[in-house]
Amino acid sequence: MSDTNDTQVSRLPARQNLAPLLVPLVVGGLVAVALGVYGRVHPPTGYAVGPAGFSGPLAMKAWLTTGAFLLAGVQLFSALVMWGKIRMNAPWIGTLHRWSGRVAFVLTIPVAFHCLYALGTQFDVPRVMIHSLLGCFFYGVFTAKMLALPKRGLPGWTLPLLGGLTFTALTGLWLTSSLWFFTTIGVKL
Ligand code: HEM
Repeated sequence: MSDTNDTQVSRLPARQNLAPLLVPLVVGGLVAVALGVYGRVHPPTGYAVGPAGFSGPLAMKAWLTTGAFLLAGVQLFSALVMWGKIRMNAPWIGTLHRWSGRVAFVLTIPVAFHCLYALGTQFDVPRVMIHSLLGCFFYGVFTAKMLALPKRGLPGWTLPLLGGLTFTALTGLWLTSSLWFFTTIGVKL
C-alpha cells in the first residue's frame, strides 16, 4: 500500500508555488517605476560624474557599459555550466558567476547615475526612449532576481527567467548606447 502511494506522490509534478515570487516582483516593479519617474521629474543637470581619465562622460559610460556587458557574457556562460547545459568540471563556477555579476553591476552604477542625474528619462528619439526604459527595467528585474535568490520552493524556471531578462536588458542597453557611441562617435577612450 504505502510504496505505491510514495512513488505516485513523487511522480506528481511539484506544485508551482508562485506566492514567494510576489514580493520580489512587486519590489522590482517599484524600483523600475521609481527610476523612471525620477528620470522624468528630476530636472537634468547635464553634469554628474567626472570622466575619470576618459575623453568625456559618454566615452567613460560607453566603456564601463562594455565592461559590464562582457561580464554579463561570463555570467551567462557560468549559469549554463551551473544548470548543466554546458558540461564542465568547474567547482569554482559558482564563485565566478557571483563575482562576475557583482563587478558587472557595480560598473553600471556610475553610468546609470550619470544617465539619470545628468540626462534623465528621454522619449524624443526611439533609440534613447528604448534605452531609457531598458535602463529602468534592468534595475527592476535585477532587484527581483536578487530578492528571489534566497527564496525556497520557487518554480525551477524562476532564476533562469529573471537572470535571462537581466542579461537581455543589459544587452539592449549596450546596443542602444555603447554600440551607438562606437559606431557614431568612434572607438576612442
Ligand atoms: C536607469 C535608467 C537610464 C536612463 C533613464 C538612461 C538614459 C540615458 C540617456 C537619455 C542617454 C543619452 C542618449 C543620447 O542622447 O545619446 C544615455 C546615454 C547612455 N547610457 Fe543610459 N540610461 C539609463 C541607464 C543606463 C544603464 C543601466 C547603462 C549601462 C549599463 C547606460 C548606458 C549609457 C551609455 C553608455 C550612454 C552614452 C552613449 C549614448 O549617448 O547613448 N544607461 N542614457
